[in-house]
Amino acid sequence: MTKYVIDGGHKLRGEVTISGAKNAAVAIIPAALLVDGTCRIENIPEIRDVTLMLDLLRDIGADVRLINRNCVEINASKIRTTKADYDMARLIRASYYLIGALLGRFGSAQVALPGGCNLGDRPIDQHTKAFKLLGANVDVQNGYVFADSEGRLKAASIYLDVVSVGATINSILAAVLADGLTVIENAAKEPHIVDLANFLNSMGANVSGAGTDVIKVRGVKSISGGTYTIIPDQIEAGTYMAAVTATGGEVLVKNIIPKHLDCITAKLAEMGAEITEYDDSVLVRRVAPLSKTNIKTLPYPGFPTDMQPQATVVLSMAEGMSLVTEGVWDSRYRYVEELRRMGAKISVDGKTAVVEGVPSLMGAPVRACDLRAGAALVIAGLAAEGTTEVEDVSHIERGYEHIVEKLTAMGAHIRRVEMPDGPSIQKAQ
Ligand code: EPU
Repeated sequence: MTKYVIDGGHKLRGEVTISGAKNAAVAIIPAALLVDGTCRIENIPEIRDVTLMLDLLRDIGADVRLINRNCVEINASKIRTTKADYDMARLIRASYYLIGALLGRFGSAQVALPGGCNLGDRPIDQHTKAFKLLGANVDVQNGYVFADSEGRLKAASIYLDVVSVGATINSILAAVLADGLTVIENAAKEPHIVDLANFLNSMGANVSGAGTDVIKVRGVKSISGGTYTIIPDQIEAGTYMAAVTATGGEVLVKNIIPKHLDCITAKLAEMGAEITEYDDSVLVRRVAPLSKTNIKTLPYPGFPTDMQPQATVVLSMAEGMSLVTEGVWDSRYRYVEELRRMGAKISVDGKTAVVEGVPSLMGAPVRACDLRAGAALVIAGLAAEGTTEVEDVSHIERGYEHIVEKLTAMGAHIRRVEMPDGPSIQKAQ
């Protein structure tokens, strides 16, 4: 097991370069299965979810070559099976994109029900509805989703009952090579959906409307190879912006698309950060005390749920009482119990957290229960008085490239410590 040991109370200073977007990469890599020929994908983040996705593709017979640690070439012309490895697929959420891509290209897919962060119930009914509308037979048996079609999928009108990133992406993937014009209504609008559409269009697909709530996919017979660069990670950028807001100091956050951060910037400014936007960077400073504010998470362009835990940590040290409302997931407050160990005063009632700011947090041993919760605890540790030990950091390393190195370069006192496995039980004397 690995933990991070953080000596808190040091302001962050300097600069940080943001990596490629996790949630774009884990959609674009399986989308490469639709491509006839080799595609080169640049700016992929070196994180566990991406490594796992590449392994899943290798395992079904794709030729996956790492050109360097942030660039990969994929050729899917010699796929030997459309059945994904069960144990690997159930480790990540995004493995469900293999269903849309394999079904769309080869007419069949067998993929384990997905895993990923435990955020309460995470149904995939909208994904299966879309596949069925496109003409596939879909069944769930023994932990697998089985999908197949006789011949090419047929275009359809797909109305999504909930705004779902995953179901929007899977509908696009399945429709790219389908026969006719597919219309996806009530689509999600996240930047990584636009990025996926741009990737597919650059390979010869015909996807329009991505970034609005109606996406049209005109099926083409085939798409061919090319080179594509993934957008910067909006949530990684927001996480470092929140960290500077929490600790104080001044950091230039580089290699970003400021427009994607509008909502995060607005909320951190309400909390007391001073943020100056440049073409592809933002300068974040915090000199004044933190202020309370209210937050409600919503699909893009609303405040992202993936920034909710990090923002709550900042508010836990702001003067006054703030309300945080989770508008996307049923249960995304499991980290609150850990924050309480550090002195935070937060009570949770259903989807709302009431955050009563305290003057400062105190270091404590805590456990990361999922990716963003882990990032939030790191921020808490950086801002707290004393030493914080964050355990189960494998969750964090699923989604943040070189987080320890990046924070150290900004002046944080954080180190990664390997611990022997297994429980250590000490008898009380
Ligand atoms: N939903 C359904 N039925 C479905 C699909 C979704 O009811 O078939 C509901 C969910 O239960 C949820 C809402 O719709 O209440 C939104 O879920 P969505 O499908 O948008 O989430 P997702 O695609 O499973 C992606 C990200 C998450 C991020 C959400 C929301 C990936 C791999 N994951 O998940 O990212 O929280 O969108 O923006 O892209 C993270 O990066 O830490 C993370 C959890």
